[in-house]
Amino acid sequence: QTTRLVDYRAPDWLVEETRLNFDLQPTATRVTATLKVKRNGTGPADFRLDGHSMRLLSAAIDGRPVPAEAMIEGEESLTVSAAALPESARESGFEWTCVTEIDPSANTALEGLYMSSGMYCTQCEAEGFRKITFYPDRPDVMARFEVRIEGDAPVLLSNGNLVASGALRDGRRFAEWRDPWPKPSYLFALVAGDLVSHDDRFTTQSGREVALRIWVRPGDEDRCAYAMDALKRSMKWDEEVYGREYDLDLFQIVAVDDFNMGAMENKGLNIFNSKYVLASPETATDADYARIEAIIAHEYFHNWTGDRITCRDWFQLCLKEGLTVFRDQQFSADQRSAPVCRIADVATLRARQFREDSGPLAHPVRPEAYVEINNFYTATVYEKGAELIRMLRLLVGASSYRAALDLYFDRHDGEACTIEDWLRVFEDATGRDLSHFALWYSQAGTPRVSVKEDYDQGVYTLTLAQETKPTPGQREKRPLVIPCAYGFLDADGRNLGEDGLLVLDKAEQSFRFDLPERPVASLFRNFSAPAIVERRISPADRAILMGHDTDPFNRWEAARAFALSIAGELADGGGRIDPDWIAALRTTVTDESLDPAFRALVLALPGDDEIAGEIAAKGGVVDPDAIHHALDQMAETLAEATAPTLRELRAKMAVTGPYAPDAESAGRRSLANAALALLTHVDGGEAAEAAFSKADNMTDSLAALRALVHRGAPGAERALMDFRDRWRSDLLVMDKWLMVQATSPAPGALDRVKALAETDFNWRNPNRFRSLIAAFAAGNPVGFHAADGAGYRFFADWLIAMDDANPQTAARTAGAFETWRRYGERRQALIRTELERIMAKPGISKDMGEIVGRILET
Ligand code: ARG
Ligand code: ZN
Repeated sequence: QTTRLVDYRAPDWLVEETRLNFDLQPTATRVTATLKVKRNGTGPADFRLDGHSMRLLSAAIDGRPVPAEAMIEGEESLTVSAAALPESARESGFEWTCVTEIDPSANTALEGLYMSSGMYCTQCEAEGFRKITFYPDRPDVMARFEVRIEGDAPVLLSNGNLVASGALRDGRRFAEWRDPWPKPSYLFALVAGDLVSHDDRFTTQSGREVALRIWVRPGDEDRCAYAMDALKRSMKWDEEVYGREYDLDLFQIVAVDDFNMGAMENKGLNIFNSKYVLASPETATDADYARIEAIIAHEYFHNWTGDRITCRDWFQLCLKEGLTVFRDQQFSADQRSAPVCRIADVATLRARQFREDSGPLAHPVRPEAYVEINNFYTATVYEKGAELIRMLRLLVGASSYRAALDLYFDRHDGEACTIEDWLRVFEDATGRDLSHFALWYSQAGTPRVSVKEDYDQGVYTLTLAQETKPTPGQREKRPLVIPCAYGFLDADGRNLGEDGLLVLDKAEQSFRFDLPERPVASLFRNFSAPAIVERRISPADRAILMGHDTDPFNRWEAARAFALSIAGELADGGGRIDPDWIAALRTTVTDESLDPAFRALVLALPGDDEIAGEIAAKGGVVDPDAIHHALDQMAETLAEATAPTLRELRAKMAVTGPYAPDAESAGRRSLANAALALLTHVDGGEAAEAAFSKADNMTDSLAALRALVHRGAPGAERALMDFRDRWRSDLLVMDKWLMVQATSPAPGALDRVKALAETDFNWRNPNRFRSLIAAFAAGNPVGFHAADGAGYRFFADWLIAMDDANPQTAARTAGAFETWRRYGERRQALIRTELERIMAKPGISKDMGEIVGRILET
């Protein structure tokens, strides 16, 4: 059954105070909830609470038991009808108490209260709190929480500040927590277990002393330093850039092994997938460090954009997620190299969001209907949502953006808001009319902008035309407001005329410039809009942009476009590997004035899926083997032509001294390792084997292992065994080992994955499942799309198994099928069989039913 934005109604009852008492037992935890509720509005209203998957033991109103016949228990609710409420309670409100019993040990969905490696933890966003107690589980009901926990565990945590704790009989303990800030139920958290903390402190700009604690399992304490450092930098940055200070005396983070997503911003008690907290040079790669920094920042930034100001309803999810992703992107860009971060962010956007936006799961940044809200924690809501904030900032300018945010925090602190509230703040702060811009929030699909250029007698005319293709349920598309940041170069690559910003807000528009010569235009600088730009450009002009554009993003973009066009033609059975491409790459990659991290990005070839997307957009049929073959040919030709240069680069990029995860050294390693992967195409894996045996950090070790395995080099098996022998007891590291094998294009990957899935593989753990099963489907186009359908069958079997245990993770993984219409008829038929088999599964979850249903419909 579908929930719709247009059906939103304010809650009939509000909760002012929520007292929770937990008596923790693995199979029978008792929860006593006492809510002080008051009527919102006037007249009689039923008292309806959300809840399911628990046992109701008793309920009382103002201390008097509610008779069973006065309560209606629905599938997922409990209602006391208005008529059954005592007279005194109907108008003024009352105190509701109820006792429920739950079984955390049996909770494999990892939603609500569950157990992970022997510890209790919670995940309540979006609608998990209703599995803990009956409650108006919606974000526009904000209450002050007081929590008492009793249990065997030495550490008992919840939101806010600790007010009391101590010992009870039989070795049990208690702790009481109070969170002074009203919050919706989705921000509630509880953790209990045998944990140790890595402690630090932070003094806010106004002088508040904040105790910082990162809680992990004993033995992991020495892998928290980087996360702690990232947290302190995030706190400082949010003060400096957004004027946002932390608002409690304590900020805690807990690392848990079983977690459906990356992390969760529970007020004052963030819960993290351990993968995004724990790091040491031996076990984490540079990319892991960067992700940890970004996610620590993201969850911390939610304290203001999410917790203090939250969402009115789940349709507004992008209000907190788009903004918070944008803030964490800004943070990472400030801490590292801004252009390199921007390129990486755009690459992710294109790989995940453009893909989503062009297929059956396309939806607006603010969706208008859902069956299961967990299915909408998507690249569109998060990543495209962040692009909309970035465009707003570009359109109004940095200082107006800051003024609008000041107004947002000022006006809406403590409220549950909508996208309309958000845009009104910008209108009020800048005097602009944003009604047309608002279309970005409701119209799905990626606009395509085609570029026409003309130069005649000192006048350059740029004509931009936009079109958005229909998406499911949205046939008619209107022109969007598309900002285009631009600049001009002359034939020698020097600046020509002024840089500026154009705004395209009609289907087609022409812009005229007086220029002394024909310019090489650099358009959509820094990726100024989430659009697909279609432009015919000569190889010579492309070379000028690649070599001289002052916008590093567009230098990279020119290189990418060059490689993409070659790969596309090769995959189509024609074309050739243009020597100019190799020459241009060589020039850029050896340019010492450029950041090594940037050069590594230029050297990276496009991904299989990226090429598939291009072919599909032009109406072609995608052949994964042909694409893979094309990329292989390109890599091989490039490596043959540049082997000495690549070896030289490796020598120059060698990092000396002990490992440090800073952006500079990481950049050197990424360039050296990009060169290594290419060299493996020509040296039989010799360099990679040497690199593997002498690596003293996970970045180099994993890069060498991947190079060997993905080429099917003779040294691959030996390296895989060595790696396993060294790391078998470290599951986070073993995830990398699984993933390298799952994503290998070398023959036999499916058999290998099958064998791995049969040896002590804890598939219920989402990290394990993602590293092997999801990685195979999403990251191994050759194996997954094997012509006999064996890859599809294997994957569907696992989706079916996982759907029983954990619908959220199963449904999210099923998105690997979203591009099925890109492939030939045979493959489509094979995939359809599997999708229908999943749909027919008895007891399919609503998560999976919604995703697979939508995929099949289109
Ligand atoms: N709000 C979290 C974040 O972006 C994501 C948690 C979503 N969890 C879920 N089960 N839908 O940081
Ligand atoms: Zn978030």
